[in-house]
Amino acid sequence: MKMILDERGKKYILKEGQEFQSDLGIVTAEALLDAKIGDEVKSHLDHSFKIIKPNVNDFIDLMDRRCSILINKDIGTVLVHTGLGAGSRVVDAGTGAGAIALHFANVVGEKGHVFTYEIRKDFAEVAKKNIDSFGIDNVDVKNRDIKEGIDEDNIDLIFLDLPKPYEIFEDVYDSLNLGGYLVVYSPYVNQAEISYRVAKKLNFYNIEILETLERGMEVKQNGTRPKTRMVGHSGYLLFARKL
Ligand SMILES: C[S@@+](CC[C@H](N)C(=O)[O-])C[C@H]1O[C@@H](n2cnc3c(N)ncnc32)[C@H](O)[C@@H]1O
Repeated sequence: MKMILDERGKKYILKEGQEFQSDLGIVTAEALLDAKIGDEVKSHLDHSFKIIKPNVNDFIDLMDRRCSILINKDIGTVLVHTGLGAGSRVVDAGTGAGAIALHFANVVGEKGHVFTYEIRKDFAEVAKKNIDSFGIDNVDVKNRDIKEGIDEDNIDLIFLDLPKPYEIFEDVYDSLNLGGYLVVYSPYVNQAEISYRVAKKLNFYNIEILETLERGMEVKQNGTRPKTRMVGHSGYLLFARKL
């Protein structure tokens, strides 16, 4: 897969065998076919474009998405706090457009696997298309209600981003490896609180609720300071471990 970057830093995913068009001109399909990663190509209006290999973040920024997606500050917190690594097995629900599923797949690599459940057929199809386009084959997108049961066992991480996640914590416990993590993403603190109490009752260990705040800086002529605008809230993350 190739990405094209214009002189303003705007990026686009290239469609195989097709010409590229933007307000900065047209790059022919032939020129793009010959271009390798790192090459520069010109449009008919003489603007320059660079050919880049997209990483998982570039791809997620540009992929088809029909619902809200998890943002990097929260995805990063999940990856680091669970110590996810090559070879891990992950269950994820709901998939949505597949943002965190793609990050899980990227980290667990060829020896690991991601099983992602999505109740809506249309979303499951979009996610499958996105995951296939990214060119990985360590993800199964399952068009299923995860509340009807988790098929997999020997799982290192089960990540739930859906209403009333605590309804399936018993099932989650059974599917997890010893040392495995349950992580729940909740936009509301009361959902996170119920999840905490249910996880405690079921004998999960190391239960904690985290909120990640991220503030960007701007560098200006007069000085450097935090940006005026920031993401004020996305969600709470509950971590619980089977030990
Ligand atoms: C906010 S979106 C998920 C975003 C996604 N986790 C990401 O990485 O961007 C929530 C998704 O959960 C799905 N969902 C809700 N209940 C579900 C269930 N019981 N089983 C599977 N998917 C479910 C919804 O259809 C929706 O697509």
